[in-house]
Amino acid sequence: MSVFQQTPVINIMEKAARKASKKIIRDFGELEKLQVSSKSLGDFVTNTDIYAEKSIIETLSYHYPDYSFITEESENIINKDNNNTFVIDPIDGTKNFIHGIPQFCISIAKLTLNEITDGIILNPISNEFYWTSKGQGAWMNNQRLRVSNRKILSECLVGTGISQKNTNILNNIKNLKEYPTTLRNMGSAALDLAFVAAGKLDAFWENDLNLWDVAAGVLLVIEAGGTISEPEGNKWLLGSKSIMASNSLIHDIILGALRN
Ligand code: IPD
Ligand code: CA
Ligand code: CA
Repeated sequence: MSVFQQTPVINIMEKAARKASKKIIRDFGELEKLQVSSKSLGDFVTNTDIYAEKSIIETLSYHYPDYSFITEESENIINKDNNNTFVIDPIDGTKNFIHGIPQFCISIAKLTLNEITDGIILNPISNEFYWTSKGQGAWMNNQRLRVSNRKILSECLVGTGISQKNTNILNNIKNLKEYPTTLRNMGSAALDLAFVAAGKLDAFWENDLNLWDVAAGVLLVIEAGGTISEPEGNKWLLGSKSIMASNSLIHDIILGALRN
C-alpha cells in the first residue's frame, strides 16, 4: 500500500505521544528547573520521563483498557488482555534531552502475542513523526520511507551506541577500517533505527538495549526494506539485548567486521 493512511491504533498511539510531548517540549525549554536524579552512572531519569510515561499510559488505557504494558519507568502492567501489549519508552535519548540536544524521542510499539504489529517514534522538537504498521510500510509524516541503497562502506554512515557495559565497542570499531568517517553515536537508539528506515543511516548496531528502546524501530526498518539481526548474526528476538539493523546491502559486511 503506498497511500498515506494511518491505522486506528496508530492514531491513538500518536494522540498519546503528542499529548505527552507538550510537557516534554515545555521542559526542554526550561531544563534548569528539572530535578535530575541518577539511577546509575550514565543512566539518568528525569521527572519529565516519569510524567510523560504516565500520560502515555493514561491515554492508551483510555482507548484500550484491557491491554498490557511493558515500560521503561514502571513495573510491567499485566491487564486482562495479555496478548496485546504496548511497549513504551517515554524519552529515548534522555541524556541528550538533559544536555539540551534535540535528538530524543517518544517510542511506542504494540505487540500482539510475540509479534510487533505497530510502532511510532516522535521527535517532539523536530516534529518528525515516524509510524509503521505490519504490512503497511514505514512512514515519516506523510512520506513513505525506504532504506538507502549505498553498498560501499566508505560512503556509508553507521550508527552505534556506546554504553558503560559495552566494553567490546573498541574492538568492534577497530575492525571497521572506515570508522573514522562512517561512525555516528547520536544517543537515541530508537531514532537511530528510524534513521536506518529513512535511509539517513545505512546501518546501526548496539549492545545492552531493552525492548522499549528498539521495538518500534525494528518494525520501521523491516517495513522500509531493511534487515534486522543480532550483531553476531543470530535472529533478533523480542528478548534480544543487542541489535544490528541495516539497509540489507551492507548487513554482511558489518556483521563480518563486528565478528573479527
Ligand atoms: C538510551 C538511548 C541511547 C543508548 C542507551 C539507551 P534512554 O535510552 O537509546 O542511545 O545508547 O543504551 O539506554 O536511557 O535515553 O531511554
Ligand atoms: Ca531508551
Ligand atoms: Ca528512556
